[in-house]
Amino acid sequence: MSYTGFCLRTIVVVLLLVGGCGFAFAGTGGDAWLRYATLGPEQARSYGTLPATTVRLATSELLLSAQKELVRGVRGMLGRTLRVTASLPDESVIVIGTVVQFRKVDATFWPSRDLTGDAYLLSSTRLHGYDVTLILGATDRGVLYGTFAFLSRIARGESVVSLNEFQAPSASIRWINQWDNLDGTVERGYGGRSIFFEDRHVRSDLTRVTEYARLLASIGINGCTATNVNADLHVLDPDFLPQLARIAAAFRPYGVQLGVAVNVSMPKQVGGLDTFDPLDSRVANWWQNEFDEVYRQIPDFGGVVVKADSEGQLGPSVYRRSAADAANVIARALKPHHGVVFYRAFVYNHHLDWRDPKADRARAAYDIFHPLDGKFDDNVIVQIKYGPIDFQVREPASPLFGGLQKTDQSIELQITQEYTGQQRHTVFLVPMWKQVLDFDMRVNGGHTPIKDIVAGKSFHRPLGGYVGVANVGLDKDWLGNHLALANLYGFGRLAWDPLLTPEAIIDEWTRLTFGNDPGAVQKVSRIQLDSWPAYESYTGVLGLQTLTNILGSHYGPAPQSQERNGWGQWIRAEDEGLGMDRTISTGTGFVGQYSKDVQKIYETASNTPDDLLLFFHHVPYQYKLHSGKSVIQTIYDLHYDGAARAANFVCLWRSIRGYVDDDRYSEVLAQLTYQASHAIVWRDAINDWFYRLSGVPDEKGRVGQHPGRVEAEAMTLTGYTVIDVVPWEAASGGKAIVCAAAMESCTAETKFEGAAGWYEVDSQYFDQNNGVSQFRLFLNGQLVDAWPAALSLPTTEPNGDSATRHRTKGLALRPGDMIRIEGIPDSGERAPLDYIEIHPRQE
Ligand code: GCU
Repeated sequence: MSYTGFCLRTIVVVLLLVGGCGFAFAGTGGDAWLRYATLGPEQARSYGTLPATTVRLATSELLLSAQKELVRGVRGMLGRTLRVTASLPDESVIVIGTVVQFRKVDATFWPSRDLTGDAYLLSSTRLHGYDVTLILGATDRGVLYGTFAFLSRIARGESVVSLNEFQAPSASIRWINQWDNLDGTVERGYGGRSIFFEDRHVRSDLTRVTEYARLLASIGINGCTATNVNADLHVLDPDFLPQLARIAAAFRPYGVQLGVAVNVSMPKQVGGLDTFDPLDSRVANWWQNEFDEVYRQIPDFGGVVVKADSEGQLGPSVYRRSAADAANVIARALKPHHGVVFYRAFVYNHHLDWRDPKADRARAAYDIFHPLDGKFDDNVIVQIKYGPIDFQVREPASPLFGGLQKTDQSIELQITQEYTGQQRHTVFLVPMWKQVLDFDMRVNGGHTPIKDIVAGKSFHRPLGGYVGVANVGLDKDWLGNHLALANLYGFGRLAWDPLLTPEAIIDEWTRLTFGNDPGAVQKVSRIQLDSWPAYESYTGVLGLQTLTNILGSHYGPAPQSQERNGWGQWIRAEDEGLGMDRTISTGTGFVGQYSKDVQKIYETASNTPDDLLLFFHHVPYQYKLHSGKSVIQTIYDLHYDGAARAANFVCLWRSIRGYVDDDRYSEVLAQLTYQASHAIVWRDAINDWFYRLSGVPDEKGRVGQHPGRVEAEAMTLTGYTVIDVVPWEAASGGKAIVCAAAMESCTAETKFEGAAGWYEVDSQYFDQNNGVSQFRLFLNGQLVDAWPAALSLPTTEPNGDSATRHRTKGLALRPGDMIRIEGIPDSGERAPLDYIEIHPRQE
């Protein structure tokens, strides 16, 4: 299906919609879902009875933030400025405070349910003969959360009369990890430079940090580590602590506790000791002194995250000590101050022997941590990535969740889209997270879904919850893609309440972000809800994981990079079959790490769900799935289907023009258009690769057959030379052309041989980040289109990261017409061109 054909139908429907109603509003994206955009007159009228006054029952930083937010939100949405009074007025009022504070005003008041921790209630009641709206929390933080919830209701057009809402978070730990480096870069960050650091200092202007804390508080996040898990050894240096204290001060008004990442080798590497052995008392004293000082400067410091014995980070294995030894020595230093240690279970050997059929990276976390169950101190939380590999587009749930019953746990989810399109692709991850959280580990034969395990419910643990790796940056829209903010929002909402459905979450987010027009809400929600299935379909299907370049950027297609190296992300794709055998009977035994009930699902290919088949089993290409289709045909079909879905996102988005301010409209349109083109790159690369490997042709005759495609290397070239692209599957036919070093411009020309008519021409080229080449398209010598290769993509080479395309629309072609592409190179980028494709016009 071509997306232009699809668009046509969508647009007709939407024109009707646009004719009906709607208004556009301005916005840069910086406010994310806290826009408080002015409501339309009709909607605003339904809040006519909202009290005109608000009272705050005590003075604290958090309550002040709550009141400020309330005034800001009401003014923004309803154009009314609430009067702020110091004591209860003789009129209808919105009360902000804790339950204890309110009971001093009204001793007869008892909440219908007990409020503890960060819980809050929104309630409509009568006091001294007046209508009163209560926003009450167990703590000041709960009050702030309640205030955001109250404003969210108004923004989404929900009623705020007769309120009786009680909300308590599912888990006490709801943290963000940022992977920011002190030099201002962000590891796996796609939204610009660090909001915290520059040039090894904390930024002087922390406005964005305060804004971030506000965003986080609005979704119930209560902690954030600001520094990369690949820890900087100087993060606790005496001259740095006062700077960290400034970040903590920027977080504090929003109830977000600061944490940092530490490295277990710090006592030796920067502490002046000759050891970092966790069982050495000098090491214990070192940590104690460090944290005593941290708490002198930051009394509400939350804790630390630790990555050890992983991807080159030193760890306790140096002294043959365990992860528990390493975690506990730090935890004991934090304990007197009520701090916690998040000890990451992402520990594995990245020098595995790929020739060993029993070697399996997926086994590592369970093999290492399960024997330590019960050995961690009570302020240690073992932080577990959702799957056993590394944030892939689909993985089974990590068996370690079921393997720790006497240890506090948190699930680590990745909001930053490292392996899921790096925010250049819209991929709404909540449906994936939700599947993992709902997965029943069947520990001891009982109902033990992961959401209950991490909340501490299943095994009666006092601590536990959620950690999201967010990696926002200084970009005005935080993540580099307006639509990607749904993942940050969704993470917070799921951590608060994992029973929420993806549909409910995206409906909330869309209304808050783009307004309440039903047609627009429905379209944006459709894009978001279909985006993970689409991305999975064009990247890595059937449990193969994201078939990206794991040795480089983790972005574009490069399936071969999974194989024959020590990283252990093997998919064992050979000419006779594909997939990792992880069974107990013939494979690596990974399946044996699950409970007996779950083993029954994964041990046999016939019981394994199709979408995880190749994660657990090695099967022939012609193996028949539950769907009745062969594995290889499914790979082909899904990649075509995924690319078509991505194309449809462009159509859906176009159809809401007029409902979104121009800036956000065009930025998202550009992003989705690029995504649709890169989806084609993925589709062709993966399908060509499997076709070459398996030798099995596509039943539908699409793979390797591209009507209208003219390879650049087959065109008449002036100044251009032909190169082999690496990996070969990133270019059509494995080859491209580049403008030779000495040339200022080069051309590639072809004669059109088709029937006369209206056409569009897709030019497939490579947009590297080491230059901005220009392309021009001429028809019979007349310039008809020009564009720069100016995207910011993560490579200096022509490959799967840089491959992209540009469409020239509305060309009237006659047989014999000459189409010429001129490429004007710029420094290292030599105007590389792969092919052009000429299609009859479809719009
Ligand atoms: C991934 C990622 C690294 C990161 C690591 C981690 O492997 O590519 O950049 O450091 O995860 O989670 O520790």
